[in-house]
Amino acid sequence: METPIRKAEPCVMVIFGAGGDLTKRKLIPALCNLITSKLLPEQFAVIGVGNNDLNTETFRAQLSDDIKKFASCPVTPELWDWFRKRLYFIRGDFDNPATYQLLKDQTAAVQKELNVPANHLYYLAVAPRFFGKVVQQLGAAGLAQEENGHWRRVVIEKPFGRDLESAKALNAEIKKVLAENQIYRIDHYLGKETVQNIMIFRFGNGIFEPIWNRRYIDHVQITAAETVGVELRGGYYDTAGALRDMVPNHLFQLVSLTAMEPPISFQADAVRDEQAKALHAIQVPTPEEVLTIAVRGQYGEGIVDGARVAAYRAEPNVTPDSSTETFAGLKLKIDNWRWADVPFYLRTGKSLAARATEIAIQFKRAPFQLFRDTPVEALETNRLVLHIQPEEGLSLRFGAKVPGPIMHMGPVEMKFNYVDYFGRTPSTGYERLIYDGMIGDATLFQRADMVEAGWSVINPILDVWKALPPRAFPNYAAGSWGPKEADDLLARDGRHWRVIT
Ligand code: BG6
Repeated sequence: METPIRKAEPCVMVIFGAGGDLTKRKLIPALCNLITSKLLPEQFAVIGVGNNDLNTETFRAQLSDDIKKFASCPVTPELWDWFRKRLYFIRGDFDNPATYQLLKDQTAAVQKELNVPANHLYYLAVAPRFFGKVVQQLGAAGLAQEENGHWRRVVIEKPFGRDLESAKALNAEIKKVLAENQIYRIDHYLGKETVQNIMIFRFGNGIFEPIWNRRYIDHVQITAAETVGVELRGGYYDTAGALRDMVPNHLFQLVSLTAMEPPISFQADAVRDEQAKALHAIQVPTPEEVLTIAVRGQYGEGIVDGARVAAYRAEPNVTPDSSTETFAGLKLKIDNWRWADVPFYLRTGKSLAARATEIAIQFKRAPFQLFRDTPVEALETNRLVLHIQPEEGLSLRFGAKVPGPIMHMGPVEMKFNYVDYFGRTPSTGYERLIYDGMIGDATLFQRADMVEAGWSVINPILDVWKALPPRAFPNYAAGSWGPKEADDLLARDGRHWRVIT
């Protein structure tokens, strides 16, 4: 028997920064998908807040246009009609107390009009410098306090801090107003089905977990490669760089889900305790170690997907002599019983040869003895790849006999593609996260200790890189697989990156 669908709890969703890109591209289309899946309750409304020249009427009109462009599933006139009249807008600055008084009045009016209880989901789609301010103002206006059984939750976008110190300061600042269980630090990687599948794959099957350890696994490679450059985000990216932008958040989510022990349940804290333990087990490099375990790169001009692209330093809003890295490669050690001596190699970059996010588990080679008197010269290693995007699925490589009278062996691959089994589900990646915020399930959100554990590993690298500016940037051509140093990182250990085509 199928479990009946549990609708989200009646609430008002308040989006700070509602005039921005995230709202029209992701949040509104995701809400439409939730409506289509019948997961939103009747008693629901969205109040946008921003300093854009908008009011409720023009906000509704603008989103009516935007949804045609950005919807990821057909939006019927009935659906849009239902949703449109639940959209409101308040104009105001995020650091002005008057904005929050307006918000207070507006939420009260909407609650009355649509008979919505005083549950509020605040979504901070704003520049990071406003995270603390908005929370503080919500507190001052009495909008953050949970009372009479009504909840108040705050979803905070990334980046959460720009190093360990600022992440700690931000945690301390928002915790003056909010309890940890009211804070939902979002990492959109956790909204991806294939990322959520890592736990199901590992713990919902009997055959993988027994070999998921140092006895059988030689090393792990995690890649998040993009073909796009910095596009129009040069202003932000030039102050962040590839390491901050991708590693302590998205890549560390993949590391922790791959490395964690089985949780005792799917309760939020049971899962997050195990993820946090895995993150805490990552060895924090000393400054000397940084020089051997971390590499960086910046793209020069080159050819991506057949088109010539400019060098990073020539991108809009990037300083012409920028030393910001657009590629980062790391070798991590996870210091625990399961993973001792199994390196985790990570790489991420912009303007690379292919778009691919994946986790490749490289198993140890079988002993060769049996084959020494055969024409087989070497045994292939087995490799399991969890493909996260753009392909979604799994593949397992193993050796098979090449047909014929002589003993030859060749690598073959077994593949599972999500789409073959489940079809394509229209998704922006935000549906599950928004829905979870509304039902109070924080499993897929980052806890303060996880964020801080991630920054602790990254901090020494940031410090060393700052102290020693790169000498030879740009050091990889756009459209390549990154700098030579990234290959050297593995070559020193007698390994190489998996060739992704
Ligand atoms: C964002 C980064 O968090 O993730 C971007 O700021 C990056 O620089 C993006 O492009 C990658 O997300 P996805 O879902 O396209 O892999």
